[in-house]
Amino acid sequence: MDEESLLDIYDGFPREFLDEHYTRYLADHENKIKEIEARLLKVDMSMANPIYCTLRSLNIEYTHALNSVKLHKYYFENIANKASAPPSTEMLGMLERNFGSPQEWEKQFFALAMCARGWVVLGLDLEEGTLRNYFSDSHAEGVWSVAPLLVLDVYEHAYCTTFPNRRDYIRVFLKNVNWAVVNKRLYNAMNMYNSRTANLSRGGR
Ligand SMILES: [Fe+2]
Repeated sequence: MDEESLLDIYDGFPREFLDEHYTRYLADHENKIKEIEARLLKVDMSMANPIYCTLRSLNIEYTHALNSVKLHKYYFENIANKASAPPSTEMLGMLERNFGSPQEWEKQFFALAMCARGWVVLGLDLEEGTLRNYFSDSHAEGVWSVAPLLVLDVYEHAYCTTFPNRRDYIRVFLKNVNWAVVNKRLYNAMNMYNSRTANLSRGGR
């Protein structure tokens, strides 16, 4: 299917498709987080053990559910119903510096989206001030100290019911990025990076 046909069909992401995804995967996880937090208040911490204990099991599922909610929120926020503002000058400049060109960034992001089992994230490393594409096979994987800027859900539940294949889903997603949201995330993340760098140069930690 060519790109124009795809965009004619979808004209943005189908609202009901996003609503179903939101209800099934985000709301369910939010409820489970509350349930786990309630259980953690009552767990017997004297039984803590690295092979098996209730505290350990609850924390594994807590991390999984919490990351799922956070990543889904980023994902839903960074999808526009129709084409939004373009990438900012700051974003374009950073894509150029860190990937060679915005086109090269998109090529790499697309390839990761074709092979990841869970998520693909364009993120800013808050220690280095550089952009990278990250991917993960589960909600619980990720790199610390990275601010997510653009998040794509590539679990099969995110596209199988609506799109004929993953490639078409990724192409429609990339045509519907809410760059206004992503630009703002970059601006906020760069402020965090700059204030950290300034603090370090003054002898802070
Ligand atoms: Fe999802």
